[in-house]
Amino acid sequence: METPEVLEIKSVVNESKDVKTFFFDKKIKAEPGQFLMVWIPRLDEKPFAVSFEKPLGITFKKVGSFTEQLFKMKSGDKIGIRDPYGNGFKLKGKKVCLVSGGRGVIPLAFLAEKFKKVKITAIVGAKTKNDLLFLNRLKKHCSKVIVTTDDGSFGEKKFPTDALKDLLKKEKFDCVYTCGPEIMMKKVFELCENHKIECQASLERYMKCGFGLCGQCCIDDVRICKDGPVLNSNQLRKLTEFGVFEREKSGKKVYF
Ligand SMILES: Cc1cc2nc3c(=O)[nH]c(=O)nc-3n(C[C@H](O)[C@H](O)[C@H](O)COP(=O)(O)OP(=O)(O)OC[C@H]3O[C@@H](n4cnc5c(N)ncnc54)[C@H](O)[C@@H]3O)c2cc1C
Ligand code: FES
Repeated sequence: METPEVLEIKSVVNESKDVKTFFFDKKIKAEPGQFLMVWIPRLDEKPFAVSFEKPLGITFKKVGSFTEQLFKMKSGDKIGIRDPYGNGFKLKGKKVCLVSGGRGVIPLAFLAEKFKKVKITAIVGAKTKNDLLFLNRLKKHCSKVIVTTDDGSFGEKKFPTDALKDLLKKEKFDCVYTCGPEIMMKKVFELCENHKIECQASLERYMKCGFGLCGQCCIDDVRICKDGPVLNSNQLRKLTEFGVFEREKSGKKVYF
């Protein structure tokens, strides 16, 4: 088993009231969608998408015990990182669309930076204006950025899936990349199926080992840490659990 590399947090960026980015004095090579196992000694180890590559950065939202602890850390503090795991998003074609919900924008903003010479339209959805992330970063690399909020406090008052539905009536894409709440990604996948467009989705499951051994992160017979987290249309089509339920740490099913 790979042991975590202990890294010092070099700088901290407050992205919003409950989202921060940590930068480290390290450069890595990663595909967008790949993740790191982040270790806080005596607490836990959890997966986080690569948010920045050179220098390495992770972006996280404060939602529970692990991310609350991360939130309290500052420059000079140290955390352990095992890196990077899983499959990333694969470049397909010359005109693509990104659809994100909430913190799903984290790997997709990195994708927009990495996929050069591709025409990118991004649909970025969040609950409110204050939950929107990386809009300026996306605007630098995308030809069009459509913003939606659930409450209408910024951009269009609709779900990102409604914006995609409208867009697909007018435009054709070689591939749609999505990350966010699973219910949203299921809908994105269904829209892509109806329009015969390739879809790649980054799925989330509770992880323990992070490299394919323990079976904790399975969705049907697919290990999200090893065979994913990014799955393509062929793989998504075969899943019976996608958009239906996930499993808690104890293994108990939780329906979406
Ligand atoms: C491949 C992969 C990549 C990931 N990348 C990132 C990343 O880049 N940034 C990041 O912040 N997290 C990411 N996660 C999730 C991360 O690993 C943690 O599970 C998450 O941050 C919550 O951990 P916690 O212990 O703080 O909260 P938990 O104790 O696990 O959760 C606390 C409560 O919050 C709920 N919850 C969990 N996530 C959210 C959410 N987004 N919004 C609202 N409620 C939520 C849970 O259902 C639970 O009720 C990723 C997960 C996977 C599998
Ligand atoms: S987390 Fe152990 S197999 Fe995926």
